[in-house]
Amino acid sequence: MSSTTAIGIDIGGTGIKGAVVDLSTGTLLSERVKLPTPKGGRPADIVDTVKDLLKTVSDKAAAPDLPVGICFPAIVKNGHTMSAANVSDKWIGLAAEKLFEKGLGHPIHFVNDADAAGYAESQFGAAKGVPGVVILTTLGTGIGTALLNDGILVPNTELGHLQIDGVDYETRAAYSAKEREDLSWEKWAGRLQKYYSTLEALFSPDLFIVGGGVSKHHHQFLPLLNLKTPIIPAVHRNNAGILGAAALAVKNRA
Ligand code: BGC
Repeated sequence: MSSTTAIGIDIGGTGIKGAVVDLSTGTLLSERVKLPTPKGGRPADIVDTVKDLLKTVSDKAAAPDLPVGICFPAIVKNGHTMSAANVSDKWIGLAAEKLFEKGLGHPIHFVNDADAAGYAESQFGAAKGVPGVVILTTLGTGIGTALLNDGILVPNTELGHLQIDGVDYETRAAYSAKEREDLSWEKWAGRLQKYYSTLEALFSPDLFIVGGGVSKHHHQFLPLLNLKTPIIPAVHRNNAGILGAAALAVKNRA
């Protein structure tokens, strides 16, 4: 397989998924394999699960030596995970990239999950060819954000943790808050309105893109928002992390 092929792995709070990606088209070349995230989310346990997953994915694609990109829900700076909003605090300050390379016996590239999703949308999705400032948000357990300017990613923006009304606003406006508090679409949209208006006031973006699994129900909540900035659903939703991690692994190797 050519250098336009890579493996992307997306580590989340409940599941770890991966697949082989064709980077010339932004499509999956293998079936997506998903394993449950080990309880407690400790680094060593996650490395073991990723090892199993990588073996399954590589065997299926008969491709042992492809670049591997891994995305994770934390600030990732120079291969180190620097935060742990919804994961074990054992990740704070951890040399994660090195740990995975040692465990997997394979070079990898480690990135923030929302950055991976944003990069995927810039290469193969809703942000492709869009000039100016684009903010992608993923609405899931937390709120992940990716900031792009003329297609260039500014990593680790962490705008899900904006303080609004004195609280870390992902605790109010993430999809997990809707589920936890059993909010109607209207009620949840009220919180999203506050969140996106704040982003709008701070960044004057040209486009908002909304990702995460819930974005498949975008017609239930995006029309309820009243913003100056166009707001549209992501194209890749659940595969965005896999696609972006794979693409960034190749970009980083080049
Ligand atoms: C984390 C981010 C992550 C986002 C989405 C937030 O709680 O701080 O790093 O991108 O959740 O998973």
